[in-house]
Amino acid sequence: MAAVAGESWKSELAARLGRVMPDAEAWAHLPLIEDIRELKAAHGAVVVAHNYQVPLITAGIADFTGDSLAMAHFAAQTDADTIVVCGVRFMAETAKLLSPARKVLLPAPEAGCSLAESITAADVRSLRTRYPGVPVVAYVNTTAAVKAEVDVCCTSANAVDVVKSLGSPRVIFLPDRYLASFVAERVACEVIPWPGSCEVHDRFSAEDIYPYRGTGVRVLAHPECPPDVQAAADFVGSTAAMIDYLGAARPDRVLLLTECSMADNVLLARPDIQFERPCNLCRHMKTVTLDKVRDALRDGRCAIDIDPQIAERARRPLQRMVEL
Ligand code: 13P
Ligand code: SF4
Repeated sequence: MAAVAGESWKSELAARLGRVMPDAEAWAHLPLIEDIRELKAAHGAVVVAHNYQVPLITAGIADFTGDSLAMAHFAAQTDADTIVVCGVRFMAETAKLLSPARKVLLPAPEAGCSLAESITAADVRSLRTRYPGVPVVAYVNTTAAVKAEVDVCCTSANAVDVVKSLGSPRVIFLPDRYLASFVAERVACEVIPWPGSCEVHDRFSAEDIYPYRGTGVRVLAHPECPPDVQAAADFVGSTAAMIDYLGAARPDRVLLLTECSMADNVLLARPDIQFERPCNLCRHMKTVTLDKVRDALRDGRCAIDIDPQIAERARRPLQRMVEL
């Protein structure tokens, strides 16, 4: 199918998407992608997407795609009227807390996260009673109510630096126990974990890696993976760090122990890489669709609204993180 004059972006986008889906499927989505692009312009909106979103979203409509840390920095700096978050609830709440004057839309309001659901604000208060005076670091994969109780936030990209910055002999790190052990191996202080985990990365085991030993396949794992997976991997890092690693090391064959869309998004830029399976799907990330983005933008629905008293306290640990 050919694009008419002035619409060369359609041919270019269809060609990129054609690397990860049949051509006909890519072309079938272009009218909806065009509608969303027009709605974005009409509403002064930007779309920020996580690396686990599908290429129809990252390549089709996103103004910015990145890891949780880069998404937070983008939200803190944009001057757009509206920020549409193609990701899960904690990401949209983070955007709203860092950019309170903007309208933040979460097109899939049901998009949660097993880590964010694993701990409550009351749990953090109990930890503080049990460990008086010990600073609390919260992964951004938490609710605003939990953030309101902690000292500083972190992502998987800066967790080690955030913990080191506290200069404390003991630190409470929540809620991901595997990210906590990743940090504990890289800092001098004691790290007190919370027993949460990501339902996507918890499903990987070192046995997934054994068949690739000695085959030349490079194995990359997210720090939300269990410790045996991290120990057996060639590289452990955030989704953005994985992309940087692939850019620098340029391996031909890769096993990415993380969410499946990561490989598809890398393939848009690096079609030469051969990705091995397994990968796992995040059911929360996959609730975001082009239709939902169009509806949210067109109707101004799904705006994030955080109780002002919670927001005021939850903003501080996030700001402390982005200012580090
Ligand atoms: P990042 O490495 O992109 O921050 O991923 C965190 C995550 O859990 C997304 O769901
Ligand atoms: Fe949460 Fe895991 Fe899904 Fe990320 S991949 S949103 S941590 S459940």
